[in-house]
Parts: sequence; C-alpha cells; structure tokens
Amino acid sequence: MSLQVPVTDDTTPLFSQALISPEVASQLPEGYTIRPLQRGDYQKGFLDVLRVLTTVGDVTEEAWNTRYEWLSRHNDAYFLLTILDPSNRIVGTGALIVERKFIHNLGMVGHIEDIAVAKDQQGKKLGLRIIQALDFVAEKVGCYKSILDCSEANEGFYVKCGFKRAGLEMAHYY
Ligand code: ACO
Repeated sequence: MSLQVPVTDDTTPLFSQALISPEVASQLPEGYTIRPLQRGDYQKGFLDVLRVLTTVGDVTEEAWNTRYEWLSRHNDAYFLLTILDPSNRIVGTGALIVERKFIHNLGMVGHIEDIAVAKDQQGKKLGLRIIQALDFVAEKVGCYKSILDCSEANEGFYVKCGFKRAGLEMAHYY
C-alpha cells in the first residue's frame, strides 16, 4: 500500500462533492452550506464545534494536518462533513466510517460518529440534515445499514432521523 501523502491543499474536499446530497443542501437555512471536510477547517472552528460533544484537547495545527492527511489517504472509508453558516463559520459536523466485512456477501456497514451542532445553532434541523447527508453517503457507497451509539438523552433525536433502537453497546476502555 502506498503511504504517499496525496496532493492536497487547504480547500481540497476530503471526498467527492458528488457524495453530498443536493436535496439535503437545498433544505438548509438560507445561506448555509454543506460540504466535505477540508484541511483548512482547522481555522474555521471545526474543533470548537466538536467541543459541544466531548473533550477535544489541545490539538495543534501541525497535529491536525498530520491527522487530516491520514484521513485523506483513507477517504474511501472516512467521510467527515461540515455545515457552514452564512459567515463561513463551521456550525455542524458528522462522520461516517465505512467498515468492509466478509459476512453478508462482503457487506459494508456505515458507522455514524461524532455528530455535533454548535450550541447557538441547535434546533434549526442542522443535526437532522447532517444525518440525512451521512445516510446519503452510506447508501451511495454501498452500505447495507448504518449504526451508531448514543446516550438515552439523544435517542429521541435519532428516532426523528429514522433510526431505531437495536442491540446494546458495550465498551472496554484502555
Ligand atoms: N431528544 C429528542 N428530540 C430531539 C433531541 C433530543 N435530544 N434533539 C433534537 N431533537 C428533535 C428536534 O426537536 C427536532 O424535532 P422536530 O422535527 O419535531 O422539530 C428533530 O429532533 C431534529 O432536531 P435538529 O434541530 O436537527 O437537532 P440539532 O440541530 O439541535 O442537533 C444534536 C441535535 C446533534 C444532538 C445537537 O443537539 C448536539 O450537537 N448536541 C450535543 C452533541 C451530541 O450530543 N451529539 C450526538 C452524540 S451521538 C453521536 O455522535 C453518534
């Protein structure tokens, strides 16, 4: 496998814009946009949006770039997208990680992770649009289902997004 860093700059999308649902884009509030993550999103408040979800830590721009370049070499499995407000500030994000299996005829499963909407932007259906956009990617790339873990407090949100409770999460922390 080639470990060469692909040619990239601050505005190259992480994955093809063709995987962004035009329908979801058209349903955003006036002036808002949705697009794949870009390396330059470090400067646009991406990590601050994630801080509404959990601890992010002090990630330097150099460390961000190293992680971003790893993601861009795996951009057939890692699909991170962002919603921007009319001033071009990132106000929402979500990720789809595509797992390749042997079972179910080499089935592919989407894992929805790290959904976050800036506090002052919650309640505008941006969370719903992020999930719909990730569902679109999952279906387009060939996943037969998408799954996620969430707290009881967020169950109602995911039910509104079309998900249903299935199974039980277990964790082993290291
Ligand atoms: N419980 C029940 N219903 C909810 C909840 C909730 N916690 N949050 C939103 N809803 C409802 C809304 O009322 C709305 O219903 P409606 O269609 O009847 O009006 C519908 O779900 C869609 O809501 P949105 O406006 O799209 O929600 P929002 O943009 O505020 O995003 C989110 C929801 C992502 C949970 C946001 O509040 C957030 O970022 N919270 C903090 C971080 C977090 O907990 N992220 C999820 C972690 S789980 C994971 O990442 C897999």
